[in-house]
Amino acid sequence: MNGHPSAPNAAPPAPSSGVEPHTEPRPASAPLHPPPLSLYVHLPWCVRKCPYCDFNSHEGRGALPFDAYVDALLADLDHDLPLVWGRTVQSVFFGGGTPSLFPPCHIDRFLQGASSRLRFAPGCEVTLETNPGTAEHGRFELYQQAGVNRLSFGIQSFDDDCLRRLGRIHDSREADAAVKLAQDAGFDNFNLDLMYALPQQTLAMAERDLERAFALQPTHVSHYQLTLEPNTLFAAKPPAGIPDDDASWDMQEHCQALLAANGYAQYEVSAYARAGRQCAHNLNYWRYGDYLGIGAGAHGKLTLGHDESILRRWKVKHPGAYLASAGKVEAIGGDDRIEPSRRPFEFMLNALRLVEGFELDLFALRTGVAVAEIAPQLQQAVANGWLAIEGGHARPTEAGRRFTNDLVSLFL
Ligand SMILES: C[S@@+](CC[C@H](N)C(=O)[O-])C[C@H]1O[C@@H](n2cnc3c(N)ncnc32)[C@H](O)[C@@H]1O
Ligand code: SF4
Repeated sequence: MNGHPSAPNAAPPAPSSGVEPHTEPRPASAPLHPPPLSLYVHLPWCVRKCPYCDFNSHEGRGALPFDAYVDALLADLDHDLPLVWGRTVQSVFFGGGTPSLFPPCHIDRFLQGASSRLRFAPGCEVTLETNPGTAEHGRFELYQQAGVNRLSFGIQSFDDDCLRRLGRIHDSREADAAVKLAQDAGFDNFNLDLMYALPQQTLAMAERDLERAFALQPTHVSHYQLTLEPNTLFAAKPPAGIPDDDASWDMQEHCQALLAANGYAQYEVSAYARAGRQCAHNLNYWRYGDYLGIGAGAHGKLTLGHDESILRRWKVKHPGAYLASAGKVEAIGGDDRIEPSRRPFEFMLNALRLVEGFELDLFALRTGVAVAEIAPQLQQAVANGWLAIEGGHARPTEAGRRFTNDLVSLFL
């Protein structure tokens, strides 16, 4: 991912009737510049649905229609191409679902088709999410040959009892083996997803998970607190022994320190990286960059040059409906024009997740709204001790990071 609670592709904005013209008075404007462009590709199937997961992921039964789905992705891309004419793609992310269920030849066919339609920047980061339960000997070499240069493993925990309680299809031995297969194939840039505050997990167990992760030398670790998402099995019937708020906070603080001590600097709420190995794709989301969203339920956000507007577009969610309509207008689940008055909140929702914060100039460039428009809220955030502003740069303080929701709400 695209990391979970932060994933822009996780929560659809409220649908609207379609692309509407500007109807309300605009706040003082600044020139709106097209930001860097990323490509998100959603691959929606999994071996089994995990009981805590609210992603658009579906248990794949029988033979999956890989070929037809790649055709649909390319048709979807063709349909959206006029929205990004002439722009260069800086990063690609295959998210899911379980993208590693797709044999490499299909990833290869998609990337070849995409690169004949779009320009990719030299060194473009191409990430593929991988479930260790789907790793097979020989696959990683072929993903690499197809153009994938970064992997993100859904490890969750290295404790076999925790993995069983989470309904995972793999054990810790398979997790180690999958990462080693990828390393042997030459992947040196990979993320490990871990979750903490798991049912019956103690602080010592959460720390042990990190130690096991460090032993594999990842360049990046995503460390998510388990959340009970509506419409999941865990929400309907919460498992016994979920750590309470105090215990979860304690785990987060200790784990953060352990990550730092091992050379993983926190740069976002749940993201930690070795120097120079931050995820370019997710950074673009958090800096309110643009992304084209291709695939069932995928979300996109695009700055359109011709009328200086920002468009959010999402695709129909169900894989069957998507397969039947990709490339046609019926595949569009909704379009939402983001009026200038909504942009400060959207920008802050993303940028304030970053430890480094943001340049005030970037706010104006990305939103087309003058910084003067949000001066009262910025002052309030500083007065509350949530934001530090110095030399044109705004950075959330320790308190601001702890109360991110309150801080962001100032900009509603
Ligand atoms: C799309 S999944 C990753 C790839 C693959 N599907 C897998 O699970 O192995 C993205 C990540 O989100 C995290 N995640 C999913 N549901 C979560 C939840 N309810 N609470 C916290 N993190 C969650 C997990 O760490 C998961 O690896
Ligand atoms: S494998 Fe990943 S995407 Fe699929 S259900 Fe489990 S957590 Fe969700």
